[in-house]
Amino acid sequence: MAKRLLLFLILLLLLSSPKFCEADEFIFHGFKSSGSRISLNAVAEIEHNGILKLTNDTPRLVGHAFYESPIKFKNSTDAKALSFSTAFVFAIVPEYEKLGGHGFAFTVSKSKELSRALPNQYLGLMNPSNLGNISNHVFAVEFDTVKDFEFGDINDNHIGIDINSLVSNASVSASKEGINLKSGMRIQAWIDYDSTRQELNVTLSLSSSKPSVPILSYPLDLTPIFMEYMYVGFSASTGLLASSHFISGWSFTMYGQAKSLDLSLLPSIPGAKNNQVALILGTSLSAAAFMVLAIGLSLYILKKIKNRDVIESWELDIGPHRFSYKELKKATRGFRDKELLGFGGFGRVYKGTLPGSSNQVAVKQINHESKHGLRAFVSEIASIGRLRHRNLVLLQGWCRRGGDLLLVYDFMPNGSLDKYIFGESKIILTWEQRFKIIKGVASGLVYLHEEWEQTVIHRDIKAGNVLLDSEMNGRLGDFGFAKLYEHGANPTTTKVVGTLGYLAPELTKTGKPTTSSDVYAFGVLLLEVVCGRRPIEAKAMPEELFLVDWVWDKWKQGSILEVVDSRLQGKYDETEAVVVIKLGLLCSNNAQAKRPSMRQAMRYLEGEMALPQVLAAPSEFDGKKVDDNGRRSSPGFEDSVHSYPSYEKGSTWWSVEGDVDLEAGSPLSSSCRVE
Ligand SMILES: *[C@@H]1O[C@H](CO)[C@@H](O)[C@H](O)[C@H]1NC(C)=O
Ligand SMILES: *[C@@H]1O[C@H](CO)[C@@H](O)[C@H](O)[C@H]1NC(C)=O
Ligand SMILES: *[C@@H]1O[C@H](CO)[C@@H](O)[C@H](O)[C@H]1NC(C)=O
Ligand SMILES: *[C@@H]1O[C@H](CO)[C@@H](O)[C@H](O)[C@H]1NC(C)=O
Repeated sequence: MAKRLLLFLILLLLLSSPKFCEADEFIFHGFKSSGSRISLNAVAEIEHNGILKLTNDTPRLVGHAFYESPIKFKNSTDAKALSFSTAFVFAIVPEYEKLGGHGFAFTVSKSKELSRALPNQYLGLMNPSNLGNISNHVFAVEFDTVKDFEFGDINDNHIGIDINSLVSNASVSASKEGINLKSGMRIQAWIDYDSTRQELNVTLSLSSSKPSVPILSYPLDLTPIFMEYMYVGFSASTGLLASSHFISGWSFTMYGQAKSLDLSLLPSIPGAKNNQVALILGTSLSAAAFMVLAIGLSLYILKKIKNRDVIESWELDIGPHRFSYKELKKATRGFRDKELLGFGGFGRVYKGTLPGSSNQVAVKQINHESKHGLRAFVSEIASIGRLRHRNLVLLQGWCRRGGDLLLVYDFMPNGSLDKYIFGESKIILTWEQRFKIIKGVASGLVYLHEEWEQTVIHRDIKAGNVLLDSEMNGRLGDFGFAKLYEHGANPTTTKVVGTLGYLAPELTKTGKPTTSSDVYAFGVLLLEVVCGRRPIEAKAMPEELFLVDWVWDKWKQGSILEVVDSRLQGKYDETEAVVVIKLGLLCSNNAQAKRPSMRQAMRYLEGEMALPQVLAAPSEFDGKKVDDNGRRSSPGFEDSVHSYPSYEKGSTWWSVEGDVDLEAGSPLSSSCRVE
């Protein structure tokens, strides 16, 4: 009955708007009868009740929905962009309350495919290589629920105006109107562009009436951005965290004001906090359905118990995506040895393909003895999972099963840096590649140290933890050791972790990791990359045993370029090489106070600041001649060190090793093989 009434009303509306079929004006109350007039791609779909679902709450999806035919956006006489107006009703229903991911955008674009666009912070609109390119011809108004550092987002609840880029030209917090975008509630938005006044307004409301004052008003001439014909629609994406993005009604008009949407005609939003839904559920769920549900539930619980994949309540508070054990087992084909990529500091790493996608991932297995420890560890991982930077290996999600923790990372097809610089690979990195990798790692570290909401100390920077993506960009991986500190807080004393050869001398004395001890390790890494040598070369002549000392000696002798990797055959930029060597020495100085910050280091690398002509000598630490990496003494390996240099067999966790000894001393050898 209600359905008929709805149809009738829609029909009435159809009849009363004679211009409906023309491309420059349309209105949809639900998309059930939209026929072929909305073209969907990627995961976007129209549900049975007519709601347009751009993405569901699965991580890393993209969804697009565009009006089928292109619309003329320019005046034929003077080629100026034309005025337009649109109104739409949306809802963002996050997988975890309060944590959205990522958002959607009203989009005007030259194409409706946007085929190479990425999920996550790219909102399905762009990718790193076309970001900001004027030939994109993309205008978007983003409704973004993640604060992305890379694009300078203001918060995790904002509206932004994006022109050919995702760095918004203007943005505003939705809370200005008292609105939480990811509340799951029905929200109406209006976007009005006036070409004569060259002004764009965005207005937001929880009700049907349009507030008289827009939430965002921005002077803008769209003429250079638009082509004569453009497509209008929506693009959405999810990331590590995911939300379902819904559009329930949409009205669009060229020149004039968009027709008002009648909210009572809109399909309801599934899963939203909507009293109506609860009411319907409460009254119409029959006893039989209840029985089926109850039986299903008990079967499910039984199966869960059998699988020991018990989710404890605290786990539900953890942010990033929780994979089921089954999914990961399937992804890695039952953790087959054939899928084993290597060992990390804590456990094994398997290659996998997530079911129902072609996404390749690296699954790291970690065993944790104590339950309490595990919980702390997981919450740490969860915070780290929110880190987003192009020079970090992205954590996609996690899973706990008994005392095992499984971490799912982006798969890095080119493996780890140590393979290349220590000559285990036939491929010799060019100087340009090395310099790019160094700058990438530096930029990732600046982010960890200064640009995220908390200071993150990596604590295990080394060539084996720098992974290379398909474009040979350096990305820092393995945040297993990372410890989070509130900005400015005094780091607590903890067990010393890190890798021999990369440990700042003060670290083994005080046990306090600092950003400065990360800088020390970064300095060692710089020297490794230039010299193509390990920090401690066991087989070398005594005077060459310790890389840092050897480079210092060469520096003092004035023959610094002699340390440059001979495999480069002299093909490198001398100025850049000197900068890297000098910076390497500066960072790996024994005296903490003499080391620069990561931000300064970045400036030196970018050539924005000149390095000092004279470098301070590597001061003695604590009046002793020997530091705890064993420099200037025989390397007395000590028990406070948890991770050993990557020349230990199979210790890098991404590199493929032919002869990995599966049972070798790993704490995991008996665990996580549960079938
Ligand atoms: C197109 O431009 C001409 C000349 O500037 C103007 O007279 C006309 O009104 C414009 N048409 C529209 C639809 O804005
Ligand atoms: C912008 O994109 C066009 C077309 O894809 C490409 O040819 C051009 O090189 C890009 N420009 C820049 C600066 O990346
Ligand atoms: C928007 O920002 C981009 C760079 O972020 C800039 O090139 C462009 O000129 C800006 N556009 C307007 C209309 O301000
Ligand atoms: C934008 O909002 C202002 C009020 O702040 C209003 O005067 C103006 O007409 C609006 N422009 C458009 C294009 O709606």
